[in-house]
Amino acid sequence: MTRGWRKLLPLLALLLGAADVRPTQDYLSPEIRAAQEDPSRHPGWLWVEEGEALWGRGEPSCAACHGNIAGMAGVAARYPLVATDGALLDLEGRIERCRTQHQGESAFGRESEPLLALAAAIALQSRGMPVAVATDGPAAAFLEEGRHFYETRQGQLNLSCGQCHDNNAGRRLRGDVISNGLGTGYPAYRLEWNTMGSLHRRLRACSLGVRAEQFPLGSREYLTLELFLASRANGLPVEAPGLRR
Ligand code: HEC
Ligand code: HEC
Repeated sequence: MTRGWRKLLPLLALLLGAADVRPTQDYLSPEIRAAQEDPSRHPGWLWVEEGEALWGRGEPSCAACHGNIAGMAGVAARYPLVATDGALLDLEGRIERCRTQHQGESAFGRESEPLLALAAAIALQSRGMPVAVATDGPAAAFLEEGRHFYETRQGQLNLSCGQCHDNNAGRRLRGDVISNGLGTGYPAYRLEWNTMGSLHRRLRACSLGVRAEQFPLGSREYLTLELFLASRANGLPVEAPGLRR
């Protein structure tokens, strides 16, 4: 009896209009999913190794202040977050602050190899842990901005994010299976890019896909959107560094 009822739950959620948000790994092909779990078949591990090496460099080094990188477990799961000065920071933005404010160096730059490498190595420490971003307090206003972006129809195709990532999740589009559009696998190695890339780079691709304005990497638009995506993923596992077609 109970099992039968449980089968009806997804249908019930659909009727009530509640989004059924599933981990991104559930949408990957079996081959990509297996390779994502296997360091010997995941090119992104080159960035992880570089990031671990960078962790010990600089004056003072990241390690000098933070200790072993394993101590970063759980950190990526809490980003983006609002810093004490009120700025909304993603993990890359947080690393850049340490680079400029605590090491006195110039910023690595968005999408640069060392920044992606450090982000991948730090995110890996949270792999499998549940996303746990704060959505209340100072984050609430940013979250609403991100939600608005997500729900607004955009571009020449006049589509909102949710029209693909909620209404059509599981369907195929140009060889991809549409996921729920979470950021849990980023930074990710994308075979089409032939390199590691950030979530904001992937968001630019989706903006272009609907012929809408592409915002700069690290822009307020994509930071607030990232926060909203993370709130949808709260409780689901961190999968970074991801592997994508
Ligand atoms: C001189 C000490 C110092 C150095 C060097 C340093 N950090 Fe930090 N880091 C901090 C402090 C202090 C914080 C807490 C936030 C703040 O007050 O800036 C922090 C916060 C962080 C956080 C967020 C932690 C959290 O729980 O939210 C990350 C990630 C991080 N640092 C990464 C790095 C990386 C990567 C490097 C090397 C490129 C580095 N840090 C170098 C002092 C340092
Ligand atoms: C026309 C349909 C469509 C629209 C509209 C769209 N996307 Fe996507 N998106 C895709 C496809 C296809 C992919 C690649 C397959 C996948 O991972 O879902 C993708 C991938 C993504 C990913 C990467 C998921 C991963 O783990 O690799 C994110 C995040 C994302 N989209 C967010 C968004 C956001 C936010 C918007 C609105 C600004 C948006 N998308 C609009 C089709 C769309």
